[in-house]
Amino acid sequence: MNQTFEHVEKINNELCLPGDKSISHRAIMFASLADGISIIKNCSNSEDVRSTINCFSLLGCRFDENGDEIKITGKGFKGFSKPRDVLFAGNSGTTSRLISGILAAQDFETVITGDESLSNRPMNRIIKPLGLMGAKISANEKGTLPLFIRPSNELHPIMYTLEVASAQVKSALLLCAIHMDAESIISENKATRNHTEMLLNMKIEKSTKGKSITASKENYPKPFQLNIPSDISSAAFFIVLTLLTENSELNIKNISLNETRTGILYILKQMGANIHIYNEGIEKGENIGDINITSGKLKNIKISSELIPNIIDEIPILSIAGVFADGVFEIRGANELRLKESDRINSLCNNFKKLGLNVIEYEDGFSVDGSIKNQTLEFESYGDHRIAMAFSIMCMVMKNGGTINNFECVGISNPNFIAQLKAISIT
Ligand code: S3P
Repeated sequence: MNQTFEHVEKINNELCLPGDKSISHRAIMFASLADGISIIKNCSNSEDVRSTINCFSLLGCRFDENGDEIKITGKGFKGFSKPRDVLFAGNSGTTSRLISGILAAQDFETVITGDESLSNRPMNRIIKPLGLMGAKISANEKGTLPLFIRPSNELHPIMYTLEVASAQVKSALLLCAIHMDAESIISENKATRNHTEMLLNMKIEKSTKGKSITASKENYPKPFQLNIPSDISSAAFFIVLTLLTENSELNIKNISLNETRTGILYILKQMGANIHIYNEGIEKGENIGDINITSGKLKNIKISSELIPNIIDEIPILSIAGVFADGVFEIRGANELRLKESDRINSLCNNFKKLGLNVIEYEDGFSVDGSIKNQTLEFESYGDHRIAMAFSIMCMVMKNGGTINNFECVGISNPNFIAQLKAISIT
């Protein structure tokens, strides 16, 4: 479906967004692993999290949904039943990779498939380290889905340092490790999102070289209640729209402010953005708070490659802010962007070129500057939710608006995106 966006005159109001997608995936998984009933509130209503729910339903867990509350009946240690079908992870890298760590420790065989985009994404990054733990897991010759996971009686703990800065790989290993009595130690040199280790109370040791996490059966989840804070990655689109629209102000409530996710706020503030955090608190170890944003002028800054894992999902919308900021927007050290729902470096560069901007594409990033020459345009979403939402913000800031193709893909992370926009914008 093509979706057209008009120029927006002003943003004003308050927004409450659905729960953080990364935390929601984990909450569903941990509740499914636990022995008994867990209650989750404000779970993400994204298609990705639906994929996780569908997989655990097939594994025998029960989900009773009532408004924004889900009651989950988990199966306990090794209590899952062998699914009668393949597990379809849809578009979701998090579902496919994290569930692999769990399934590697079960006593039955499973097969994981996904949609066309997910079927092109690399799986050797989990197959290799899970293999070091004794897991029996294989993919096709290209290292992509379908994944075949067989029971193993050789599982053993490992000490391992991540080769790619990926929370999905780290979490897959930690979730396999919680099925063993002895401790595994997983280390990372660059900080990636830490929801798995925080929610499962794992021992975390920080040093100058990075961080080491210790996991064993001690960390196996027990039934819990969790109110999931709202998704900072979804909020980022509305934050940038407000910053770029004159005379605008927006408040976004109850946002997850976990330090491994707030790089977007840090960078935008460095760029001169008026962003204030208030009503700060803590929910099950996760920092939360409300955010106030007012429009203002931005300037581009040098973005440290250390911060890339922290802002990996926000780079598309950050680069839109960069186009309207003084100076050149440049991102480097972000090779991982090529391995997301689309090759995001290429998707962004192609769309920026349509605007007549000066674009340089590097293997590990891109730069963009200049002024917009073509004002009425159709952008390509590449079936990638974050590209679609980033360029919808671009359209609303441009004089004559614009159109995005295949816009339905936004449901992957935020099915209510259009309704939320309508609630805050005056055209
Ligand atoms: C996620 C981790 C990130 C991120 C993805 C969600 C997670 O992937 O891009 O959208 O929930 O663990 P990587 O850590 O593999 O880069």
